[in-house]
Order: sequence, then C-alpha cells, then structure tokens
Amino acid sequence: MLKKSLRINGTEKKVICDPETFLSDVLRKQLLLTGTKVGCGKGECGACNVIMNGKVVRSCITKMKMVPDEADILTIEGIGTQNNLHPIQIAWMIHGAAQCGFCTPGFIVSAKALLDQNINPTREEVRAWFQKTRNLCRCTGYKPLVDAVMTAAKLMRGEVTKEELWPKLPEGGSIIGKDTVRPSACEKVTGTWEFGADLGVTLPDDTLHIKLVQATVSHANILSIDTAEAEKMPGVYRVLTYKDVKGSNRINGLAFPSNKGDGLERPILNDKKVFQFGDAIAMVLADTPTHAEDAAKKVVVQLEELPAYMSAPAAMAEDAIEIHPGTPNIYFETKVVKGEDTAPLMESLPHVVEDDLYVGRQPHLPIEPDVGFAYFNENGELIIHSKSVALHFHALMIADGIGLPLDKVKIVQNPTGGTFGYKFSPTIEALLGVAAIATNKPVYLEFNMYQQITYTGKRSPFFMHLKMGADDKGKINALETDWSVDHGPYCEFGDLVTMRGSQFMGAGYKIDNIRGAGRTVCTNHAWGSAFRGYGSPQSLFASEQMVDELAIKMGIDPLDFRYNNVLREGDVTPNGCKPDVYALPGLLDMVRPCWTKAKETAKQKNQNSTDKKYGCGISLLIYGCGLDGADSSEAWAEITKDGVTVANSWEDHGQGADMGTLVMAHETLRKAGYKPEDIKLILNDMNYTPNSGPAGGSRSNVLTGNATRVACENLLEGMRKEDGTYRTFDEMVAENKPLRYDGKWTAPCTACDVETGQGNPFPVYMYGVLVAEVEVDLTTGKTHVDKLTIASDVGTIINKLVVDGQILGGLVQGIGLALYEDFEDLQKHTTLIKCGIPQIKDVTDDITLLYQETPRPLGPYGAAGAGEMPLSAPHSAIISAIYDACGVRITHLPAYPEKVLAGLKNLNK
Ligand code: FES
Ligand code: FES
Repeated sequence: MLKKSLRINGTEKKVICDPETFLSDVLRKQLLLTGTKVGCGKGECGACNVIMNGKVVRSCITKMKMVPDEADILTIEGIGTQNNLHPIQIAWMIHGAAQCGFCTPGFIVSAKALLDQNINPTREEVRAWFQKTRNLCRCTGYKPLVDAVMTAAKLMRGEVTKEELWPKLPEGGSIIGKDTVRPSACEKVTGTWEFGADLGVTLPDDTLHIKLVQATVSHANILSIDTAEAEKMPGVYRVLTYKDVKGSNRINGLAFPSNKGDGLERPILNDKKVFQFGDAIAMVLADTPTHAEDAAKKVVVQLEELPAYMSAPAAMAEDAIEIHPGTPNIYFETKVVKGEDTAPLMESLPHVVEDDLYVGRQPHLPIEPDVGFAYFNENGELIIHSKSVALHFHALMIADGIGLPLDKVKIVQNPTGGTFGYKFSPTIEALLGVAAIATNKPVYLEFNMYQQITYTGKRSPFFMHLKMGADDKGKINALETDWSVDHGPYCEFGDLVTMRGSQFMGAGYKIDNIRGAGRTVCTNHAWGSAFRGYGSPQSLFASEQMVDELAIKMGIDPLDFRYNNVLREGDVTPNGCKPDVYALPGLLDMVRPCWTKAKETAKQKNQNSTDKKYGCGISLLIYGCGLDGADSSEAWAEITKDGVTVANSWEDHGQGADMGTLVMAHETLRKAGYKPEDIKLILNDMNYTPNSGPAGGSRSNVLTGNATRVACENLLEGMRKEDGTYRTFDEMVAENKPLRYDGKWTAPCTACDVETGQGNPFPVYMYGVLVAEVEVDLTTGKTHVDKLTIASDVGTIINKLVVDGQILGGLVQGIGLALYEDFEDLQKHTTLIKCGIPQIKDVTDDITLLYQETPRPLGPYGAAGAGEMPLSAPHSAIISAIYDACGVRITHLPAYPEKVLAGLKNLNK
C-alpha cells in the first residue's frame, strides 16, 4: 500500500492505495469524484483525462506509483460546478456539444489545459490538441466541440459575455426550432450526469459483482461446465450456470410469424452450444470485481468445436450444418414484386449496370461500455437499471427466460453514454435478472471495452447483387435486387432488418418495375443488432452506387441523373405507397451550386497534382420514421401545484429525448401559459413511465412526440373552462377533475407484405442530399474527406442544436463506415482505434448544413425524426467521390487504402 498526499481540485487529500491501482479508480471509487469517466480503460479515448501538475494525463493508465507525491490534480469537479460554471462549460452547453455527455468531462479538462497555455488558439490548433490528448467522441462529429472551444476562448478573453451568447427565447413564445439548451446539458458538462458506473459506486456494500465466463470460440458443443474450483475462490458468493436459471433460459427474439425459427434461439447462459465468440457460459458473483474475475478464470468448460460459419455465404453453403438444429440457416425470406417482370425489360433497355456490393459489420463503438445493476424492491419487483433503449420490449423479451411474470420486471434506463442502436437488443438485462433472482441481492455488471466490442450486436452485413436499367431518356425503368443478410446467430429483429432491403434499395426514385429477393442468414459471427440507419445504409449504398454507375455510363451528370429520376408528386416508393412529402427535387436544387463548385474545385486541384487526386460524389439519404405498420406510443401529462409533469419512455442514447419531450410538451401547453421551466420531465423508468416503444428507427420524435402532444392536449381539454380559459391546479382539485391524462398515438400504416414488399410502412420519412469532396493519395491509397455539404429535410426542426448535432454525428459515422470501421477480425478488431473509430484528425472540420423544412402531415408540429437519415448513405457519396478522383470504385466497404491501391493497380494493367 501507498500513502499519497495529493492536492485535488485545490484541496489537500491523503489517500491510501495499492501502487498498482490506477488514478481513475482512486478518483472515482475512493474519492467519489465520478465526474472523471472511464470508457476504454486503455488510454485510447480520453474520457478519463485529468490535469496533473499542469499536464493532461489519462488517469485510466496512470498507476498510483507514478503519481508524484504532492501532485496537483484537477478534475472536472474542480473546473466548474452547476452553480458556478466555467466559460468552457457554458460554451459546451451553447453549442450542444454534450450529446450523450460521456466524453464531455474529458474534453472539457483537455480544453482547459489548452486554454491555460493558449487563450487564442486557431481551430487547427484546437483539433491538433484534442488529437494529442487522445479525446474521442462518437456522437458529435467533433465540429461542435471545436466551436465550443473557440467560443470559450472568446468568453475568457472577455470579447463576449455569456448573456450575449446564451440563446434568447421569446417571452411566452414557441421554442420550436430554437437553440434552447437541453435540460441535461448542465449536468453533462459538470460531470454530474450519473452514468451506470457512477451509480454503481453508490450501491450498497452487499452488492455482488458479476464477471462472466465467456466463450473464446465461435461455434461448439458444450460438453461440461465445472465450477467447483471457482466456488472455492476468495470472496465468491455463487457461480451460476444455465442450471440456475429459473425460467426458460431464452431471450424472446419476437420473430415474425413467417420466420422459420421460433425466435427463442438465444440462451441467457449457454447450455448445449456456443453460438458466437463471447457467449456467456457462467457468471461468477463475488464481493469485489477482482475476486469475481479471478474466480471466473477457474471455471472449466469442455467444448467440442464445430465448424464456424463466419459469413452469410459460408452459412448458406450446401454442406453447412444447421447452427440451431431444426432451423435452417436461411430462416427468413422476403421478396419485392412491383410492376412488370424485370427480366424481359432488362433485355430491352439500352443502358444496364450490375454489381456485387457489400456493407459490413460496422461496430457501434459507444465510449461508455455496457453496464447495469439489478435488485428487488420492497414490492417484490425486479428492478433492472441498464442502457436499454427499449424498456418495455426488453422486459417482454426477458421475463419468461429469467422466470418472472412480466408485471414483476421493471427496467429503468440509466443516463446512457451512447448506444447508436446496439441497445435496441437486450444485452446484460437477463443476466442481471438471473443473478438477482438466484441471490436476492443487489448485483452489478460492468463490461470492459473489450467485452463491449467483442460481445454486443453489430450492424448486419448485407451481401448484395443489383442490376439497374434505364431508357434512352435517362429514366430508370427497372431494378433487380438480391440480398443476403448475415445476422449472426440470434434472430432478434433479423427479419425486420431484412425487410429494409425491399424498402430502401431504390428508395427516392420513381422505379416502376422492381423484382427482388432477400433472406436472413444465421451465422456464427457477432449477432446483428440495430445500428443507426438499420438496413438503409446497406440498401441505399447498393442502389446509390448503381445510380452512379448508370449516370456515368450514360454520360449524364450524377446530380442531373438523380434530378431526372427522383420521386415527384404522385410517384410511389419501392413499396408502392406515396411518401409523406416530395422533398428531393428541392434538396437537389439546394445543393446544386455546391456540387458545381465541388466539381470545379476538384478539376483545378487535379491540374496541379499528380500524386494526389481530388473528386466529388453525391448521394440521396433517406430513412423512414417508425417500426413497420401500426406502430404506437404512449405518454402522460399531469397538472401539479408547480406546473405540469410529463412522462414517457423516450429512451435517450444521447440524442436529446429530454429536449424533444420538452419542446413537444411546451408547444402544446403554452396555450395555457406554461413556460419551459414549468414543465417537469419523468423519463424512462417503467415504475412511472408508460410504453412508448423503443428509441429506434427514428420513431421517437414522431411517435412519442405525437403521444406527448396528445397527452398534453388531453390535459388542456380537461383544464378548459367554458369561456375557453384554463383551470388552475387548485380549481381542478376543487372541482374534483382528473389531474393526469394519457396520450397515445398510432401510425396509420400497414407493414409490407413479405411476398411482394408492398405496403405503407412509415408515417413519415427523412430526406437528405449529400455532396462529399475527397482527396485520394495515389501512393498510399489513403482517402481523406475534405468537405461535406448536406441539404436535409427533416420537416419542422424541433430544436436546432439537437438536429444539427444528429446530422453532424451521423455524417461522421458515415465517414467511418466508408473508410475505416469494421468488426470482422476477432483478433484484431478489439479496441476503439483498431475498429476504426474516426479520430478528430480523420474528420473534416468543413461541414455545411443546409435545411429545407417541409412540414410533415403526420409529424408532431410537422416534424420528422433526424437521427438516422444522416447515416443512411453518406458512405455512398464518399465512395463515388473516390471513383471520381481516381477511377476506382470500391464496392465492398470499408475503402481501406490497400483496396484503393489494388484498384489503381488494376486500372493500370
Ligand atoms: S483513455 Fe482512459 S478511459 Fe479511455
Ligand atoms: S457526446 Fe461525445 S461520446 Fe457522446
């Protein structure tokens, strides 16, 4: 043990600690300064940054023996507090720079160190600094963070005041479309927004810490599990296997009726087989995480390895065995049948292109690893706290498996450091439930980044073959599609994501004749989970590349070709329904000047460059809001003495559910004179909040926004007097009027027919057009995105900061998808950096956001969603730009330098 005298945030502290302990653990667990977050735990993400003796250090890799005695340490808590914010924190709030907020304290600490030594940095200096201090952000796309530092510097130089900068809200007026700062911003910038691991520190002393025994192979029969040695290890309370699970030990994957599986493929604790790397075979419950981890190594699992099918084609091979015996590896199929048979048409059309395309297993890479805890409350209900973005779904999916009636399972969403969709599937909820039931004690489970990356769902890879034909006038007349979806071993939502192929291949264009066939394939690679865009980034990539190839083959400008073919009044989508609005011609007109300029810029640069080439590409971006068909959501509103309380389960990945709820409620309630500060929010706790459905498919702003609006309208109706004025709380009580009112909204939609792909699946769509400009280094094959310009139509903008943030963050994940990100190699793709997370150096600072606001007839106050459109196809514009620059078309993502070099070599043959 070591005794250290430290000066923490200006106060002398003595700590007794193990010399091998990391500074982050001492700060968080011994000194309870949980503002310092731990993401990667390996020095890659900067979430744990603190300033030690004037220098930024990553506290997660700084052992206490390396911390000098008397060291002066500054953490986020010492920079500013909720009642005394530092200018950097103020600037962070003004720019909406904290989305999930998990990276925020680390960035603010780094920014403080920079501004302490350079009060007037350039944007490039700020970017270089964050690269040096290794700060990663997965939500914002970095630009708002640089904006925030530039503003903070101005504030600190005294050139502006907070009052001048803080968004002015109209007295009594609407806050729709304004820069209102989200309710959670102040806690996020001060490090007081308590994520799961922060709450974990506050759990009672008898809490049991869980560590998993996980599979290190991808496919095997389990012969035996021996826990005897582990049970004897110090501090161990129980070692649990499938035998200890009281219920069916299966997650309910909510399979479609036409799914050939029963949807019950996924074990909670594996019993007969291992289906993928990382599967949980046993759980050790001990008094400390270290004791649990040590004991987990002593569990002996005997396996008989089986052939592992690591891709859809491998699992579809004739000699492949069934991964789930009794269920074929191809377990769901769907078709598109629209208009005339395309085979004879393709024969007759003068211009036809076809290609094989692939979009892979993009990893979500939130900076906060998965974490949660569970306990029984005094009513005998199991309370599970996690990062769930589908509270009521997840309760339904796990209740039978863990062996409790559904009404005894209540899930609460912790403040969440990003999910981007992986938490649409349950991850650790059932494990926590099993552990709490087996022990009747509070239990806590925290993944490290390795577990987060290797054992949570990933984007489902699509293997696609498309053929597209046009007539001599440049009109697309026929499309043929074929796609195989590698959904890993567990079926949950695999059928749904496969349907996206029929909805988004060819989306945005008038194509009268389509034939297509798609299938979901069970494999032994990572299970497929939702990821922002959910099937559209795969589908749109394929059809946008076909559109590009066709335009180029016909010698027509890619923008003009699109303009000639996009949906116009009366046209129908690939599903045969009219879209909500016809926004694309306007968006193409909006980007046309940028497109013309981009082409000219590339031409000029290319004249003076031999080893680097420049090019530009364009793509449509589209996604629907909602789960297919008659999706619905619920909320409630209650008048109180102090104002109105509004509740819903609008789960927050970090996108801004609090802001969305507040704006929807305020816009409705302001008719009765309520101001934003009169509205209290209760969000995402099944003990109080109704079933609003999951936060996925960009559905929340539309579905839960409408449900919140309806609840508030119903409250106003209850408050309304005959003269049109509204009763006060006291009058409501005096007249014995109900105080709480429910709201529900159901989309007037029909799911697509799996035999034809025809239907009307979404009430509202989001549209964008992106122009990407790139530089390709011909000697290294490296691509850099120099500039992005996007014109978006997401209906009425509900909050400008939130929508800007969603679009910037989505585009940057698109840069990652195009160039860097993958989770394919289980040995290599095991850290944030090795998986290709874009760092600030990889991301352009030159991003222009343009908006067209076409109010949506079915959107609350005209709004669509915003989260997924920006990641639906930015990678396609980037890939087309690479082709424009150097003539190499990368059809299998990501466009690693070696693929570009191989393409160049082929061209030169
Ligand atoms: S660098 Fe310390 S948590 Fe990532
Ligand atoms: S706000 Fe940066 S990781 Fe979420």
